[in-house]
Amino acid sequence: MCGILAYTGKGNIRNIVKKGLKSLEYRGYDACGYAFAYDNNISIKKEVGKNKIESLTDSLPEYVEKNVYLLSHTRWATHGDNTEKNAHPHYDCKKNIFLVHNGIIENYNEIKNDLLASGHKFIGSTDTEAIPHILESIDYISTPEKIFEILQGSFACVFLDKKQPFKLFIFRRKSPLIVGKDKNTLFISSDMQTLSLFCNKFIEIKENIFYQLDTKNIYILPENKKIIYSFTISSFFNKKEIESEKENIFMKNEIWQQPETIKKNIPILQSLINEPASKLNKFIKKCKFPERIIIAGCGTSWHAGLIGKIYLERFSKIITQVEYASEFRYNNPVFNKNTWFFALSQSGETADTIGAMELAKLFNIPIIGIVNNPLSTIDKNSDFSFHLNVGTEIGVAATKSFTMQILILFMLSLFFAKDKKEEKKKFISAIYELPEKIKEVLNKEDELKQIVEEYFLSSSNAIFLGRGYNYPTALEGALKMKEISYIHAEGSSAAEMKHGPLALVDKNLPVVFIVGNKNDITYEKIISNMHEVKSRNGKILSIVNQREKKIDSLPSDKVLILPETIPELTPIINVVALQIISFYAGILKGCDVDKPRNLAKSVTVE
Ligand code: AGP
Ligand code: GLU
Repeated sequence: MCGILAYTGKGNIRNIVKKGLKSLEYRGYDACGYAFAYDNNISIKKEVGKNKIESLTDSLPEYVEKNVYLLSHTRWATHGDNTEKNAHPHYDCKKNIFLVHNGIIENYNEIKNDLLASGHKFIGSTDTEAIPHILESIDYISTPEKIFEILQGSFACVFLDKKQPFKLFIFRRKSPLIVGKDKNTLFISSDMQTLSLFCNKFIEIKENIFYQLDTKNIYILPENKKIIYSFTISSFFNKKEIESEKENIFMKNEIWQQPETIKKNIPILQSLINEPASKLNKFIKKCKFPERIIIAGCGTSWHAGLIGKIYLERFSKIITQVEYASEFRYNNPVFNKNTWFFALSQSGETADTIGAMELAKLFNIPIIGIVNNPLSTIDKNSDFSFHLNVGTEIGVAATKSFTMQILILFMLSLFFAKDKKEEKKKFISAIYELPEKIKEVLNKEDELKQIVEEYFLSSSNAIFLGRGYNYPTALEGALKMKEISYIHAEGSSAAEMKHGPLALVDKNLPVVFIVGNKNDITYEKIISNMHEVKSRNGKILSIVNQREKKIDSLPSDKVLILPETIPELTPIINVVALQIISFYAGILKGCDVDKPRNLAKSVTVE
């Protein structure tokens, strides 16, 4: 789940590594390190702790006149604690081979025991360290396939070897690696966005092949065959957004961008759906209408899937099942003929969602990707992709991507809905009103901040409850609160409270009810659920989507009134308020809201 940036060529390597690692930090920020070969010397450095990228890169030469062979890494620890010893690059006993790795070596224990028995010395406790020692013990130049026979798990590796000067070596399985080209320079990274900072021509590195690179060319070992690749040109990414170095504001910016992200995408989605010659319509013609849809995702994407299920079943009458990608892939799922598979992922690189998608592919059914990152693994391997098109999301918390996932699933469910002309018209006009309504929520910033001060700061627990469309909204509100402020929060269906969680309620526990509005089928039900909590002295904050008389009689300590919309779209309005609440809970508690502890933006390991 780390980020790799490697480089062969001349130039300002201090700037390149600093810029590259900064943009990779969202993938992991436990530790960082580099190694480079220059003028027959190899230098290595690792850093943990505050301002690590600055201290690391300040030690690099500003400009190199001869070619340098460099690799750098930002780590998200999977095995072994966060110490300098476990930071990458890792090396062999003789300190010839220096290697960075993204992924998990599942059989590292066995490998390590064998290597220890044959005299190898390890200094740390991470899985990665086994790899340079294996490379030390085999002849990888003439029998590179051995490494793929030995290693199990996922890996993207880049290494340099003192005994093989003027080269970098790369290989991968499951975890991505891409090579970018700019004049007499090659860049290698696990991340397309990072490469876009330096070049705009790319090729993807194939699995289970051992490559060697100089400053211009890529060769396959053992034949040492030069490969003539056609580099793809891409200008998908916005350099400015990626390069922004402002601290602690990505999440806020991203929340505040939502009126715009929604506004610009409504017409795009509409023409995709309505134009007979649109890519979507052309694609649909080739497939049979779905009788069943499986949506797989993780975390926030899974929550969007849960809302999508209600849309797809209610409007399109298509049986829809929503699965945690991580569980689905190991549960021997049943696929029937007219099943479609939706892979829902902001990053398009979540290992479990990719795994679930690969499984679905084996059954030869239509695979639909709904991703924010164009050219990500899920995007490239889908039969049809929806791009969220919300711009790069850098804050670890998913915000603007979530609201767009919901909107796409809603519009798609209308697309699949056979009749309902009148209802569709009503829905579309409600969609067009969304940006202004989101702005109204953003304007409630002060009130939301005050709610945080009154309700959440003095508590280490909270409960978020909702029903129907707003049950997944409650799950998302709780997830946001946990990851951004470290306040333990549980999300649940308000109806499920009485089956257990109600035992937690006392006068100190903040309980947030996401009520929706009176047109919602579960409106009266959730109000009864509120009474059940109030009878136990719960401290209730209710979030409603309209002002009406009944509000004054709600059994709540505080009522937050948000703009009215149709019940179907209330999650989009309500979640924006919940995002702001968790943002301020994090800020007021002094947390790094853009980089919550222990997390990373892109979860590329199982
Ligand atoms: C969201 O705030 C989380 N950081 C996390 O749950 C995220 O949604 C999950 O890891 C899935 O990521 P993806 O959408 O990129 O696949
Ligand atoms: N498993 C390796 C480690 O814990 C690499 C993790 C990563 O991909 O960042 O160091």
